[in-house]
Amino acid sequence: MRFRPYRYSQPSRNAATCREDVYRYYDTGLMPQEETMPRHEMMTFWRAWARHPGQVGAIAPSSTTLAKELVRNLRLNAGEAILEFGPGTGSFTELIQDLLPDPSAYLGIEREPQFVALLRRRFPRLRFVASSAEQAPDLAANAGLDKIRVVICGLPFASLSTVVQNAVIDALDRVLGPGGEFRTFQYVHAFLLPPAIRYRRRMCQVFGAHRRSHPVLRNLPPAYVLTWRR
Ligand SMILES: C[S@@+](CC[C@H](N)C(=O)[O-])C[C@H]1O[C@@H](n2cnc3c(N)ncnc32)[C@H](O)[C@@H]1O
Repeated sequence: MRFRPYRYSQPSRNAATCREDVYRYYDTGLMPQEETMPRHEMMTFWRAWARHPGQVGAIAPSSTTLAKELVRNLRLNAGEAILEFGPGTGSFTELIQDLLPDPSAYLGIEREPQFVALLRRRFPRLRFVASSAEQAPDLAANAGLDKIRVVICGLPFASLSTVVQNAVIDALDRVLGPGGEFRTFQYVHAFLLPPAIRYRRRMCQVFGAHRRSHPVLRNLPPAYVLTWRR
């Protein structure tokens, strides 16, 4: 039996409270997300899902295994910035923060205000806005970020309306310059559903061919990582 401490960016009262809650049984059949997710944060996620199932689009935060696949070989140079769409409770942010040349190079755009509050506690050095990814160009400009090299995306595209899907893709098109990269994931079971296919088709029209990872099985549910480059 192995234990994994939950990692906060800086020690705080909140971190101390969490740490007591987080020693997790690992490899004992618990959900992969529970490797790193304190129980009360999992509850925040489930409550948000119960309120807005279509918007949250997942029954649990992504696993560390999926997060590692998502940021695999990602490098950021000084002066380059990264946007995260839909960071949720921070499964990907946890790894992204270690890649940043500077904390100001990151902006997280999350629609659910309770997640934004949680993210600000969990990553006090990073910036988050409670808004929609559709507004990404204006939000990035307001944050002083002009050279966006990477967008990491946790949005549940397959369960978003066509209007929102298109608006986010348009925002992405405006925000990502030459050499830019977009990484997201899609669940294996939903990969061939019409909204998922429609989304990939539209993305390919705008950004060209994409790369698909092997299925990441240690995630609930299993998922592929998709990458588009300009
Ligand atoms: C499937 S969850 C993923 C959360 C996290 N990235 C993860 O993998 O655990 C989707 C997240 O996208 C957020 N979201 C949905 N629509 C959004 C939008 N238009 N703009 C910004 N965030 C949005 C939801 O509130 C939720 O936190």
